[in-house]
Amino acid sequence: MKKADLDRLAAAAVVARGRAYAPYSRYRVGAALLTKAGQIYMGCNVENATFGATLCAERSAIASMVAAGDREPVACVVVTGGPHPGSPCGICRQVLSEFAGDMKVVMIAEDTRGTVLARSETRLSALLPMAFRLGKVRRSRSGK
Ligand code: THU
Repeated sequence: MKKADLDRLAAAAVVARGRAYAPYSRYRVGAALLTKAGQIYMGCNVENATFGATLCAERSAIASMVAAGDREPVACVVVTGGPHPGSPCGICRQVLSEFAGDMKVVMIAEDTRGTVLARSETRLSALLPMAFRLGKVRRSRSGK
């Protein structure tokens, strides 16, 4: 993967984080997915007064990607506040794994000025070994 693509992806996740709707936790999260076709899709957390209805940034990015007709993510960047990078929650790991057998996952923590405080990198297969799969699913663009 090209460094330029990863830089673009991180920049998109930062922009998405700026749009997060997190009035309850004040924990803003931005996510961006890069697909095989080179496209970038953004997502942010969208909280709700019914806390359980809250949508995480990663799943919001997956929804943008699928709605745009793209289904092949190859990398995901997640940006949170510091001091430590936030790693995708269990539900998001499963949702990411629906569309990628594996992918690079980069987690970045930034301070209030946007300075990077910490960065860590892993793969989805390390975050979610033995992901649940329901039989053989067609994931083609036209597949329903
Ligand atoms: N959150 C995400 O956006 N992604 C995760 O993987 C973990 C948590 C959000 C949900 C909620 O708005 C806030 O972070 C605190 O849990």
